[in-house]
Amino acid sequence: MSDAIESILHEDRQFAPPAEFTANALISSEEHYQEMWQQAKDDPTTFWGDLATSELDWFQPFDSVMEGDMPETKWFQGGKINASYQCLDRHLTTWRKNKAAIVWEGEPGDTRTLTYQELHREVCKFANVLKQLGVETGDRVTLYMPMVPELTIAMLACARIGATHSIIFGGFSAEAIADRNNDAQAKVVVTADGGWRRGKEVPLKTNVDNSMEKSKSVQKVVVLRRTGGDVEMVPDRDYWWHDLMENASAECEAEQLDSEHPLFILYTSGSTGKPKGVLHTTAGYMLGAQMTSRWVFDYKDEDTYWCTADIGWITGHSYIVYGPLANGVTSVMYEGAPNWPDEGRFWELVEKHRVNIFYTAPTAIRAFIKWGDEWPQKYDLSSLRLLGTVGEPINPEAWMWYRKVIGGDRCPIVDTWWQTETGGIMLSPLPGVTATKPGSCTTPLPGVVPAIVTEDGEELDANQGGLLVMTQPWPHMLRTLYGDHDRFIETYFAKFNGKMYFAGDGARKDEDGFYWIMGRVDDVINVSGHRLSTMEVESALVSHELVAEAAVVGFPHELKGEGICCFVIPKGDIPADEAKETLRQHVRTQIGAIATPDQIRFTPALPKTRSGKIMRRLLRDIAAGRESTQDTTTLEDQSILEKLREG
Ligand code: WTA
Repeated sequence: MSDAIESILHEDRQFAPPAEFTANALISSEEHYQEMWQQAKDDPTTFWGDLATSELDWFQPFDSVMEGDMPETKWFQGGKINASYQCLDRHLTTWRKNKAAIVWEGEPGDTRTLTYQELHREVCKFANVLKQLGVETGDRVTLYMPMVPELTIAMLACARIGATHSIIFGGFSAEAIADRNNDAQAKVVVTADGGWRRGKEVPLKTNVDNSMEKSKSVQKVVVLRRTGGDVEMVPDRDYWWHDLMENASAECEAEQLDSEHPLFILYTSGSTGKPKGVLHTTAGYMLGAQMTSRWVFDYKDEDTYWCTADIGWITGHSYIVYGPLANGVTSVMYEGAPNWPDEGRFWELVEKHRVNIFYTAPTAIRAFIKWGDEWPQKYDLSSLRLLGTVGEPINPEAWMWYRKVIGGDRCPIVDTWWQTETGGIMLSPLPGVTATKPGSCTTPLPGVVPAIVTEDGEELDANQGGLLVMTQPWPHMLRTLYGDHDRFIETYFAKFNGKMYFAGDGARKDEDGFYWIMGRVDDVINVSGHRLSTMEVESALVSHELVAEAAVVGFPHELKGEGICCFVIPKGDIPADEAKETLRQHVRTQIGAIATPDQIRFTPALPKTRSGKIMRRLLRDIAAGRESTQDTTTLEDQSILEKLREG
């Protein structure tokens, strides 16, 4: 198949779940999983309909489970529901009323715990505050806040009154805030004076102020006092959170909303130009967040669960807020950086709170490896029973390190593949069932029917790399790109005549039916007619002891079409030039001559998005020696590009 992506990475290690884990797991046998998966595929109406009836609290039952073909499928039409009710109220009549919902740690070391009852009260009060500010069902509210409990409170308050929230990650600039305010036509912005990050104050309110000139739709700004820093308050526009909350009533009925009522917009970067406002709606999204988190994290009521993502990303939406709270779980939330005040901070928190389930990203894992084993080894991590990862392909060596050093060789790892657009986890091991392979996100969850296809939509055989698509609709998929339904169709569905959802990732399925994500299709390189996944070359590099992290891109090459350029972060100091030859040989022996790097460049850092993904498109310009004309607004550290050019 000429347009297949050649897979060159081989991995034979496999790890079955410990018997004790399986014995206590919610889904504990391959047969059970197969049965669920098959039913969801053959009869999605019964599968999802039964779950929606038994797992969601309805004010009014739905008339139909699904109507219409992908991508226009509508779920649970006729039903009335509320996401905040699903996360809070329904626990208040159970023993979970006084269970900790959020165990919060501020970066400077301050802490707070909120029970479900307490969280409910705060949410009701803030919902009344929003109403008082003129927010109505259907309005949009922007949240630009640090990782503090008030962010969760504000989200659920929006959900309670049917306002659609749009969270902007606290690392974004005034320009980005204005773009998103305008695109969503937000009426109110909720922010804080600042937030803490590595001991410094992030000037959130100042950034909001600087966005206001261009944010014509915004009428009011609510400001939480977090750092105590100086801020300017504009009369009749800006209000302190604590002033508004002081007199707010704690009574606020949850609005009875349609199943397809817009719950939130979350902007995700497009490869070009304007960010895409991914829209999720209420019932389908909630069912997805609730069920996927229960299947994948195998929650027990005694668990303390910690997802280290920022709520500004989809992972935080689905797996800090909506999924865990709907399941009545105790969830740890941390405000700051993993290396503040030192590189042991996460492990200190795991020890302190006896965390049982820990969910983080490959970019963080690679940083932990670089910082050294001595940090986790200082702490007692024996409470951990399950580890998770999300956000990028995880290199097998990083996976092995995670298993050994953090998981003590005893915890299953769930490598979860999904996207902002999918709303919830799609491909992942079930921790009590799946015998995992390092680097593979393994198999689809029930309700997920993926395929690997060619550009023409033909299904490929085992171990042939191709395009990852979804062939059936699922309840928690995005409904549109806010205000631009044409772009929604164009981006995700036009490629295959509207019949399949195109994820934009390359992947292969092995002989056991396990999926291996090969990265974004845009990142594939073509060496002498062989289409290679940059991710596989990166994994080969990371398997060498000198290498902490690597990013591989193609560059124009006279003979081969594209050559392979590797940007490598070494584990210690920048090594002598001989090391380059060592690494070239290493890749050659690991995966073959075709993948031999043409260039190796050592660098202390890589350009990453604010959520930690490597921005290979920027590296391509550097490798080619071109001036870049690309959008860099999502880049975390602007100075890196200069350094790389000089290097
Ligand atoms: C990548 C994050 C490999 C992938 C939830 C996807 C992954 C994009 C994995 C979505 C994984 C996410 N293995 N790649 N386990 N998880 N990705 O929208 O390229 O921030 O398309 O959602 O991240 O990123 P997003």
